[in-house]
Amino acid sequence: MQSLLAPSVLSADFAKIAEEVKLVEIAGADIIHLDVMDGHFVPNITFGPKMVSDIKRITDLPLDVHLMITEPEKYISGFAKAGADWISVHYETAVHLNRLIHQIKDNGCKAGVVLNPATSVEVLDEVLRITDFVLLMSVNPGFGGQKFIESSLAKVRRVKEKIAAAGSKTFIEMDGGIGIENLKAIKDAGVDVFVCGNSIFGAKDSAAAVKEMKKILNS
Ligand code: DX5
Ligand code: ZN
Repeated sequence: MQSLLAPSVLSADFAKIAEEVKLVEIAGADIIHLDVMDGHFVPNITFGPKMVSDIKRITDLPLDVHLMITEPEKYISGFAKAGADWISVHYETAVHLNRLIHQIKDNGCKAGVVLNPATSVEVLDEVLRITDFVLLMSVNPGFGGQKFIESSLAKVRRVKEKIAAAGSKTFIEMDGGIGIENLKAIKDAGVDVFVCGNSIFGAKDSAAAVKEMKKILNS
């Protein structure tokens, strides 16, 4: 599939979120990544469905909601109603992962399974055929601006092999520490969707960063 760039608003200025999102949309971003954190699963707190519905009103791009919360099953329909197009849940938060994936799909969204850096790709075996995408964390979740964990590249290759063996259409998203300097290597490893927070919204010119990244991804 074509590479997709997903700016993460975690590093944007929440006081002018509409402007920030519009800038990256006009510059060529493909999807908006929204990090939901609860202060339990990860040591940080962000926002809930209201932020998702407010952003939905001001952009035509699909919304990619990354749930870093315990008991995600309680909130999936709320985020779907708020306008999420993709919803991903952490393997580490799921008691009944199969049921969760079906719940996301039944709510009309693409379903993703997220793995923390320390979680083995082997846990995907029983769900790969029903999962729309796998989101591999390349930093420990909770904060923007962290350093990319290099062993994530080998992990992508292992997931790629599993997807091929299962004959599934699952695509791979990667999140954390991605920027202009490592985009090409991550693409070459087999990633389809690139989440970038600090390297876009922390840049002097976020639109220029998006354009530069899209150029690399399309080359
Ligand atoms: C981290 C979040 C990421 C974050 C990435 O827990 O899931 O989406 O925004 O930020 P950067 O690109 O700055 O590492
Ligand atoms: Zn994220």
